[in-house]
Amino acid sequence: MKNIDSYTHVRGESIFVDDVIARQDTLYGLVFDAPKAHGKILNVDYSVAEKVEGVVKIFTYKDIKGENQIGGILPDEPLWAEDEIHFWGQPIAFIVAESESIAKKARALITINIDELPVITTAKEAKEKGSFINAPRSFELGNTAESFSNCEYVFEGETFSNGQEHLYLETQGCYAIPQENGNIKLISSTQGPTSVQQITARVLGVPMHKIEVDVTRLGGGFGGKEDQATPWAVMAAVAVQHLKKPVKHILNRHDDLRMTGKRHPYESTFKIGLNKDLKIMAFEAEFLQNSGAAADLSPAIAERTLFHATNSYFVPNVSTTVYSCKTNLPPNTAFRGFGGPQGMFVIESAIAKAADELRIDKREIQEANLLSENDEFSYGQIATQVETKSSWSAAKSKFELEKLEDQIEKFNQENSQFKKGVSVMPICFGISFTNTPMNHARALIHIYQDGSVGISTGAVEMGQSVNTKMLQVAADTLGIHPLKVKLETTNTTRVANTSPSAASSTADLNGKAVLKACNSLIGRLKKVASKMLSVDENLISFQNDVVFIEGKKPELTWENVVAKAMLERVALSENAHYATPIIHFDKSKEKGHPFAYHVYGTAISTVTVDCLRGTYEIDAVNIIHDFGNSMNIGIDIGQVEGALAQGIGWMTLEEIAYGDDGKLLSNALSTYKVPDVFSGPKKIEVVPLETQGNEMAILKSKAVGEPPLMYGIGVYFAIQNAVKAFNKKHKLRYHSPFTPEKVLMALYEK
Ligand code: MTE
Ligand code: HPA
Ligand code: MOS
Repeated sequence: MKNIDSYTHVRGESIFVDDVIARQDTLYGLVFDAPKAHGKILNVDYSVAEKVEGVVKIFTYKDIKGENQIGGILPDEPLWAEDEIHFWGQPIAFIVAESESIAKKARALITINIDELPVITTAKEAKEKGSFINAPRSFELGNTAESFSNCEYVFEGETFSNGQEHLYLETQGCYAIPQENGNIKLISSTQGPTSVQQITARVLGVPMHKIEVDVTRLGGGFGGKEDQATPWAVMAAVAVQHLKKPVKHILNRHDDLRMTGKRHPYESTFKIGLNKDLKIMAFEAEFLQNSGAAADLSPAIAERTLFHATNSYFVPNVSTTVYSCKTNLPPNTAFRGFGGPQGMFVIESAIAKAADELRIDKREIQEANLLSENDEFSYGQIATQVETKSSWSAAKSKFELEKLEDQIEKFNQENSQFKKGVSVMPICFGISFTNTPMNHARALIHIYQDGSVGISTGAVEMGQSVNTKMLQVAADTLGIHPLKVKLETTNTTRVANTSPSAASSTADLNGKAVLKACNSLIGRLKKVASKMLSVDENLISFQNDVVFIEGKKPELTWENVVAKAMLERVALSENAHYATPIIHFDKSKEKGHPFAYHVYGTAISTVTVDCLRGTYEIDAVNIIHDFGNSMNIGIDIGQVEGALAQGIGWMTLEEIAYGDDGKLLSNALSTYKVPDVFSGPKKIEVVPLETQGNEMAILKSKAVGEPPLMYGIGVYFAIQNAVKAFNKKHKLRYHSPFTPEKVLMALYEK
């Protein structure tokens, strides 16, 4: 089944926030933001700007009737700055005008005096100065100190992985419309409708029921709209509260790039100990997360770094610590993988370092340490239904790794200008919000009296095709044609108190709720049909729009039963709630069973480096991926390909640059390079691992949104191998992205 949005997408008919037909009296909002990264605000002069014809009002923190506070995990972020600014691009005021161009004109006329304070842009500097978001967290398993003293080989090193711009096609935005009695409707491009509702209510000083948030779909989120879609909606809502007119607030690309947070850059150190059989006996890592100027989701992201610090390997002695370092950058936020990729890059670097020192292939160490059934993760969960070795060996045989390695060696012997590199990248990613209380969802299903069905859930469609999956679950469970089912918008008045669509868990959580609701409805309809047919209800099933009695078709359609149920006054609507069973986590001990299950897979990447120019091509990425029992393989392979491209971008091309003064330098697509069709792999092959799937996954179809991003890490090490083949003197560094510029320097390093 194809994505249900594909028809309107290709015709340009799909509706995004900016496509909503604006009411005639709509006003337009624009943020005035900090032109420095840190300082005290001495004064801001709005007088000239206010006089521009068509400017309706300029809002500041003084206009807030509730709290000037938008922090989710920690209350440390104002909607609009009061006396101090903490990052370049921090919102200070909100200009509302009759048009966007008038607001722009006015913005240029605002003047500000700032008493500048010292600026911190790196995590290391923040740590040296004791600038943190919260207390550090540590996960411990076994005894690393003792183990290191018994290790044959011990290696230490440091790594850096840069941030990443989400670059959702649809920028942040909201259309806020006044309703009667001070109620406000927000049409928002958010992954978290409930958090938009909750924080708007807090800032406006009104109960949550006065705020309705509606989401049709997002033009991409990638984590960037889990928390950071909120402020733009809240600003529009504040304006509506005062002006009682609709306000549209869509960020232009430059404003979006400058004002929003990104993936967290990490500076980390590691120590890895191996015995003579190449078993990793001990691993220590210290992760410095560059959190930016406020907490946002940083503490949760830091936590996931620790959860994934040993990737797909079993390490009996682990000691990992993460610091959320407070700097003067925009607050960094969720990005596909949620801190997991940053953790995995460090252990892969540690293994690469060990292999380089021991003059062996990295994959020998990887292969010797793959996770097995009943191994313990550093956080106490016992690994079950493990697919590490199965996906590794499937990749190795299916893609003829050994033959490939021989071919590459031969190629490198025969060619001096071009060198090839290959690497293997296994992944293991935990599925569930690491914060256990967030793992729940609801669905509201109406069967209309003509037999058509409407579904509401808390799931937000952002291109990952969750709506198509929800529709499949309902059609499958009710036994009706997919065309009978419609997905409603995600709306806080229909499905309330939702977790954001994130953690790759949206389909599992909301799908299980849909399944539950459909099963209740089918239970009732079976009773109706059994009465109509005078047979035991246990013999009845619904399939292909008709009723079956033990596999035989009587003359009774879905519509007949629904119509009869209506006459019999049977409820044709159902609301169901699902909360993931089994999972738990005790933060005081840092132990528990936080994940419903893990997703596994193995990628083999091959690259060719042009050793004259430092440029490279990715020849192929071949993947064995654990989809479980995929309910929609077309959509799921699309997720693997998209995540892989994004992972490759993060590891190779996408270079976020801030000046020492905290100003974003890579502030446009001319200076920020994302992979295009030419820089992506020339060949991607994704082969599903043969497996049963997991009961905790919706219809045994495993979560797929984030895990494949981490295959991109393999490309980094493939490039490194190619560079090493050219220049034996190259001293390996673990500093991503591995841009052509860095490759060139490495090729000619003496
Ligand atoms: N795919 C598309 N096309 N657009 C997106 O914004 N977000 C990713 C992933 N795939 C995203 C995407 C992220 S960060 C997550 S957490 C998951 O989708 C969220 O959706 P899911 O929980 O339904 O997998
Ligand atoms: N993943 C993604 N988003 C989240 C999580 C998580 O584990 N926890 C809170 N938000
Ligand atoms: Mo995804 S980073 O959990 O939105």
